[in-house]
Amino acid sequence: MAETLAEEKMMVVDGVTKDFSGLKAINNVSLTMGRGKIFGLVGPNGAGKTTLFNVLTGFLKPDRGEIYYKSAKITRSRPDKVVRMGIGRTFQNVRIFPGLTALDHIMIGYQNQIGETALGGMFRWWKASEKVNREKALTLLDTVGLSDRADDFAEDLSYPEQKILTLSRLVATGADFLLIDEPTSGLDPASFKKMIGFIREQVDRHGKTVCVVEHDLDLIREICDWIFFLHHGELIASGTIKDIICREDLAEIYFGKEHLVR
Ligand SMILES: Nc1ncnc2c1ncn2[C@@H]1O[C@H](COP(=O)(O)OP(=O)(O)OP(=O)(O)O)[C@@H](O)[C@H]1O
Ligand SMILES: [Mg+2]
Repeated sequence: MAETLAEEKMMVVDGVTKDFSGLKAINNVSLTMGRGKIFGLVGPNGAGKTTLFNVLTGFLKPDRGEIYYKSAKITRSRPDKVVRMGIGRTFQNVRIFPGLTALDHIMIGYQNQIGETALGGMFRWWKASEKVNREKALTLLDTVGLSDRADDFAEDLSYPEQKILTLSRLVATGADFLLIDEPTSGLDPASFKKMIGFIREQVDRHGKTVCVVEHDLDLIREICDWIFFLHHGELIASGTIKDIICREDLAEIYFGKEHLVR
């Protein structure tokens, strides 16, 4: 199994395979992710990164292998159960709720805080009251620089603002383990900086664990503690950025010789 900085194992993937009509989108992948680190999942288009996210979050059932979260087997758990266990995700394409404001989005996150049964959640929501959630949501929007957009419909926000909003909503759910698919694609440099600062803060200040899929080598370099390299559904390398960027074979497959550090 790929060795990681896994002092306390959060997620263990053991021999997972996902087949789409003969195409092995994920092929016998085993890896471990430890608490409080940022893991990068990299590889060329079609490598199987999003498929692996879908398998880890219950959106797809693997054909073979097992997945454990905090030692509990979650291999065939439904997405709602996976979410209740503290695993949250964002999607490669921004998903927002049209007709709801930026503030509504964050408040929904707080109202759906994890670690609750449906009934418990409703009770908690009633107890906590809208006012408390509203204050928390406004504070979070302020942290990410969106307080002046609080009352705007999410669909009227710019693309970078929508991206940071969807990640903020995920944070508001209280998830412990954040799976983030391409957080900085299409972002301008200022939004890029804001995004990586926000992700880093979730780990350094709030003790979250993050697995991020991203094509941008700058992001990988700046924030990932450990990298998993997928190619044709197989985990062909893992290590720190230093271990990865000195590999000529990986440069050729994916990140380009100009980034190679010998
Ligand atoms: N629902 C599906 N049905 C059939 N094939 C699929 C399905 N989802 C993904 N695939 C295929 O599985 C392979 C892996 O796709 P996946 O989306 O996981 O790649 P990726 O690494 O996320 O790529 P990208 O960097 O372009 O987002 C691809 O060949 C893709 O065409
Ligand atoms: Mg993808």
